[in-house]
Amino acid sequence: MKIAFAASEVYPYAKTGGLGDVIGTLPIELSKLGHEALVFLPRYNTITIEDYNLKLCDDIGEIPIRIASNIYKVQVYTTTLPVSNVIVYFIDCPHYFCRFEIYTKDNDEDERFILFSKSIIETLQRLKYAPDVIHCNDWHTGLLPVLLKENYGWDKLFHNTATVFTIHNIAYQGIFTKDTFRKADINPEHAAPGEIGEYYGNINFLKTAILTSDIINTVSETYAKELLTEEFGAGMENFLKRREKDFFGILNGADYNIWNPGKDIYIPNQYTSSDLSVKLKNKTALLKRVNLPQDKNKPLIGIISRLVEQKGFNLFEDSAEQLMKLDALWVVLGNGEPKYEEMFSALVKKYPEKISLYLGYYDELSHLIEAGSDIFLMPSRFEPCGLNQIYSLKYGTVPVVRKTGGLADTVEDWDESLSNEIQSGTGFSFKDFSPQMLIDTLQRAITYYKNKPTWKKIQLNGMCKDYSWKKSAEKYVTLYDKALKKYVG
Ligand code: ADP
Ligand code: GLC
Repeated sequence: MKIAFAASEVYPYAKTGGLGDVIGTLPIELSKLGHEALVFLPRYNTITIEDYNLKLCDDIGEIPIRIASNIYKVQVYTTTLPVSNVIVYFIDCPHYFCRFEIYTKDNDEDERFILFSKSIIETLQRLKYAPDVIHCNDWHTGLLPVLLKENYGWDKLFHNTATVFTIHNIAYQGIFTKDTFRKADINPEHAAPGEIGEYYGNINFLKTAILTSDIINTVSETYAKELLTEEFGAGMENFLKRREKDFFGILNGADYNIWNPGKDIYIPNQYTSSDLSVKLKNKTALLKRVNLPQDKNKPLIGIISRLVEQKGFNLFEDSAEQLMKLDALWVVLGNGEPKYEEMFSALVKKYPEKISLYLGYYDELSHLIEAGSDIFLMPSRFEPCGLNQIYSLKYGTVPVVRKTGGLADTVEDWDESLSNEIQSGTGFSFKDFSPQMLIDTLQRAITYYKNKPTWKKIQLNGMCKDYSWKKSAEKYVTLYDKALKKYVG
């Protein structure tokens, strides 16, 4: 099967969160299963020709793309994903992609991703390449299915090309003014009240994708069920219910070539489940690196996260003082909303011996935190899949999570009523989204941390879990088959 991926993030070229990890790995796994996968990504200005050895696709030439009645010239660069033969095409249009950030609040944000979607289709035309499936991801590629079927519907090349749309996060929907469809040359009737693109008088990319893709999925089974409810659906629940027969949940996998304590190139001391004591050396290195006291008997709680509402950090607002009283040390890596950055900064100022903070995005440090921490905290309000808890399991870093979405599907709560021998628990979780539950659950984890044989059992239970991509990639193949059958049918 031939699958073309369209996404706004692909590791190692551009990443702000898990989307980058997924698109950096899933295509490679599909190619290992014998399929042909290609990837499309905008060429943001951080993706330099020199750093990534990009080649200009001369044979494609300059592509004129029309946005809001202006013509922009697009060029296409290419390379292959590291250690694979998966081709990546970079859509180059400096006017839209040379910005400070991958995502902006600029008032042409819609245009940036309309250009991206149109350029993908036009590149495929020039390559005379008809994928069986175009796999779109998140709102940025949400207009591609309707563009493909309507604006480019005349092109026989795509007559057997189906579309799959993956929702990585319902919180980001791509909502813009009504004008957006005109800028994209999409039939304005679709912007009329109640039509596929319209959402409270605006245009919603995600809604459009839900109603126009052949198959839709999200990144865990629990989140797929949650999305059909008002509590989690963020206004999309009724559209998803309309598509319920075509809507699935597939858990993300982990790339154990990158996230594996046995071969992690970023950590000073590699280790496996048979030499878990080596993990302590990473703790020593991490404590030194982040300027915390070498208090090895205290558990070190790690956080690596976008600091946004989704991740549950408002639970800290009412409980920070109590959390700091726990017998533990803290290391936080993240960036995001100023109120959370300020909250953590204030804690560091007040408790410099207890908590260390690195504000920003830092790939290498994130690996050391996974390896050197004892506990990994993810108290998310909602979590489509979550990758850090999956990585933590492999690193013997016991996850403490809120039982929601993918966190519920991957972390098994330690059940103290069972004997150690038959225990399969891999971490600690809580259901009620309340500061007290967070404190109690962390306290529970800290108590077990002090009981070394039990702690080791919890670590080993997690380390032997296999969340590699293979199984999930096979499920995607089944999904692509469904999309094709449905489309051709
Ligand atoms: P989300 O996609 O919602 O941010 P995930 O848990 O799926 O959450 O994925 C987060 C990914 O981004 C992980 O690979 C994590 O290590 C990485 N990450 C998040 N914040 C940072 C940061 N500040 N520095 C480095 N890596 C980060
Ligand atoms: C999103 C979600 C996260 C998921 C990631 C990759 O950003 O917040 O839970 O793991 O996408 O699918």
